[in-house]
Amino acid sequence: MKNIVILISGGGSNMLAILKAAQRDNWAAQYQAQVAAVISNKASAGGLVLARAHGVATEVLEHTSFANREDFDAALMQHIDSYATPGNPPLVLLAGFMRILTPGFVNHYAGRLVNIHPSLLPAFAGLNTHQRAIDAGCQVAGATVHLVTPELDQGPILAQAVVPVLPGDSADTLAARVLTQEHLIYPRAVLQLLSR
Ligand code: GRF
Repeated sequence: MKNIVILISGGGSNMLAILKAAQRDNWAAQYQAQVAAVISNKASAGGLVLARAHGVATEVLEHTSFANREDFDAALMQHIDSYATPGNPPLVLLAGFMRILTPGFVNHYAGRLVNIHPSLLPAFAGLNTHQRAIDAGCQVAGATVHLVTPELDQGPILAQAVVPVLPGDSADTLAARVLTQEHLIYPRAVLQLLSR
C-alpha cells in the first residue's frame, strides 16, 4: 500500500476533497493508495476534526514548540516518514499548510511533494493572491497544483483551473469561486501521480 500524508494548517477543505475522492474512486483497490495520516502544525486546525470523522489518523506538530525552522522540519520529516511502507516512501500533499519549508525538507521529498496554490502560477506566487489578481485587473484567476521545489510556489505544474473574475468581486467572493475548482483539480492531480 502506498501511503499519502496530507499537511494542513486550517479548515482542510482541499484535504476533505481528497479524502472524498479517495473513498469515491476506491484508491485503495484501484491504486493501492490510501491517505494514512493528516498532520497539522496547529492544534486548532478545523481539518483535524474532518479527518478523524473520515477515520484518518491525525497528528499535531506545533511549530512553536521548536527552536527553529530546521528543527521543526526535521521532526516533521520523521513523522511523515514513519508512514513509509516497504519500497514506498509516502506521497506528501500540502493542503493549506502555511509554512515555508526548508530546502532540506523539500529535497528529501523531491518528486513526491505536491502543493495547491490559489493563483494561476507563475502569476501571483505568495500571499493575498485574490486581491492582487483583482487589483491587477485580471479577467481570469484560478488555482495551480504543482510539485514543490525549493523556490516558493514554483515547480512543475500538474494541473490548473481557470475561473472568471466578475465585476464587483471581492477577494472573498473570488476565493470562494477558485476554491470550488481547487477541490476538483487537486484530487485529479494526485490521481495522475498515483497512476504514473
Ligand atoms: C486554499 O485556497 C489553498 O489553495 C491555499 O490555502 C487554502 C486552503 O484551504 N494554499 P483549505 O484549508 O484547503 O480549505
